[in-house]
Amino acid sequence: MAISYDKIPNNVDLNSNRKLQKALEAWQPSFLDWWQDMGPEGFQQDDIYLRTAVSVEANGWANFGYVKMPDYRWGIFLTPPEKDRKIGFGDNAEMDVWNQVPGEFRKELRRIIVTQCDTEPASVEQQRLLGKCAPSLYDMRNLFQVNVEEGRHLWAMVHILHEFFGRDGREEAEEMLFRRSGNPDSPRILDAFNKPIEDWLAFFCFTMFTDRDGKYQLGALAESGFDPLARATKFMLTEEAHHLFVGETGVGRVIKRTTEILNEDPHGDVKKHGGIPLDIIQKYINEWYSASLDLFGGEDSSNAANYFGAGLKGRFQEMNPKRFTEHSALEGCYELDWVEEGQMGSHEIPMRRAMNLVLRDAYREDCLKSLARWNKVMEKAGRDERFYLPSQRFNRGIGVYAKQSFDPHGELMDDKTYWSKHVDWLPTHEDLDYVKSLMVSVNEPGKFAGWIAPPAKGLNGQPVDFEYVKFHG
Ligand SMILES: [Fe+2]
Ligand SMILES: [Fe+2]
Repeated sequence: MAISYDKIPNNVDLNSNRKLQKALEAWQPSFLDWWQDMGPEGFQQDDIYLRTAVSVEANGWANFGYVKMPDYRWGIFLTPPEKDRKIGFGDNAEMDVWNQVPGEFRKELRRIIVTQCDTEPASVEQQRLLGKCAPSLYDMRNLFQVNVEEGRHLWAMVHILHEFFGRDGREEAEEMLFRRSGNPDSPRILDAFNKPIEDWLAFFCFTMFTDRDGKYQLGALAESGFDPLARATKFMLTEEAHHLFVGETGVGRVIKRTTEILNEDPHGDVKKHGGIPLDIIQKYINEWYSASLDLFGGEDSSNAANYFGAGLKGRFQEMNPKRFTEHSALEGCYELDWVEEGQMGSHEIPMRRAMNLVLRDAYREDCLKSLARWNKVMEKAGRDERFYLPSQRFNRGIGVYAKQSFDPHGELMDDKTYWSKHVDWLPTHEDLDYVKSLMVSVNEPGKFAGWIAPPAKGLNGQPVDFEYVKFHG
């Protein structure tokens, strides 16, 4: 199949880069097949009001218009190179950044890129059925926007594999379209990306918490001494902000609607009025926040130390002097309590080995800001209940707290007590079934399902009742 390179917006000289053209010729048709198979089901012929990045300039990265998703112009963009950029941290600090893969770190870089890249198509697969029960056209459009942009992030990372990793890079790129979220034989690499997302509250929690892990991983890679990776991830971050907006405001609107019901009904029977009770929302927060913490990896990690030492992966905003002034991280320790021989005790992790934890702390701080805004919604509605983020020890599958029994406040407890109480902390089958039962498709412009409040305003200056999706199917 001939590919028209003019149709692929890019700033990587695709028109004259034969090597990249050849790699893409083989890969692009498989990508389009994958999109048809695993992308949003049932809406491929409809016109969606989407933004497309057509250049990296301020006026080019967010072009709005109606597009059919299979015609979306997935582009390849890197933020423009910074002149004379030096590696900012680790053992190679002050050296020129690498514009080719440094041989001694090839294996590590490949692993970092593949792990990040795999999450992009995975999330599209997780969300493929949600369009059918979208609570409004506004929300449906946001879902598809997130989906096409995760598709573009896949392209951006595949470009790095194609351009800089030769044959094994091409093989890794093929694998990206072969693994499937939740498939027992060829699952996606990270656990949170194999969890099904079957209702919209889960989607909002995913974009709030799991995509936000992405923001911090991409932020750490945007500091990389491997310049093409730093530039690709930096540009991805501009799009990621909208995904996080969708998540935070989505949960916020669910909360708002629930407070309206609570304030109208003297008995506070939220379910009777088709809303989502506050305790179920809190359980979803607990579930998705704790699953997302696992994505940061172990608290004490030799991989993290190696990546930092080599200059491949920094801390979030490593070069912002308000955050860090010392970039070797050779001194000092991170103190953390965990259980050893049945006892909670204090441990010291050498700073470089604690880099996952340092990144996770920045993430938690960010999550807390969203929590504060959700609690503002509660306050404004005159409610006394408040949402919280569970302790980092709660419900963990990876790291020093994995598979141990802690309550959401971080108190260690015996397994029996934990299992008798966990139905209060995490969504039960009944909760999930209830939320699912509310999922009905609302397709009329300006109308919203009864469990969610409309947004404060529409997108890109359009009104809330704008026809964000035009159906042809
Ligand atoms: Fe992404
Ligand atoms: Fe995202």
